[in-house]
Amino acid sequence: MSAQPTPDEGFTGFTLVCQVDDLAPGTATQADVDGVIVAMVRDSEGGIHAINDRCTHADVSLSEGEVDGCTLECWLHGSRFDLRTGDPTGPPATVPVAVYPVKIDGDDVYCRTGGLRPPVDPPTARIVADAAPTASAEDTKRGSYS
Ligand code: FES
Repeated sequence: MSAQPTPDEGFTGFTLVCQVDDLAPGTATQADVDGVIVAMVRDSEGGIHAINDRCTHADVSLSEGEVDGCTLECWLHGSRFDLRTGDPTGPPATVPVAVYPVKIDGDDVYCRTGGLRPPVDPPTARIVADAAPTASAEDTKRGSYS
């Protein structure tokens, strides 16, 4: 039985997620970290970030988005999130995404979510197909709707 390398005390609560080389620069990969679905992102300068994988505008996976510098752009409507803070930097999202601490030990990438999802479900946008205007009951009675 061989001993596994043990990170020092500063890694308490952190979970081994992947190897540095699993994350190509400029890409995002979905990971389950202690029950929290996270987008593990390597920015174009090689920095590694962990951000909640759920867009705060609607319920889609951010790990399927595009990495641009230190931002992640949602593939559906184009909201952009700062990978360091989770703050939205481009519309339509207005609510930040949770970010999680990341530590590197040699080639190992660790993340700590504490098993906690964002404390409150953010408001979500409904995606509505182009809908034709509908008449209200009042309009129909008056015959004012054509
Ligand atoms: S779902 Fe992400 S911007 Fe709309």
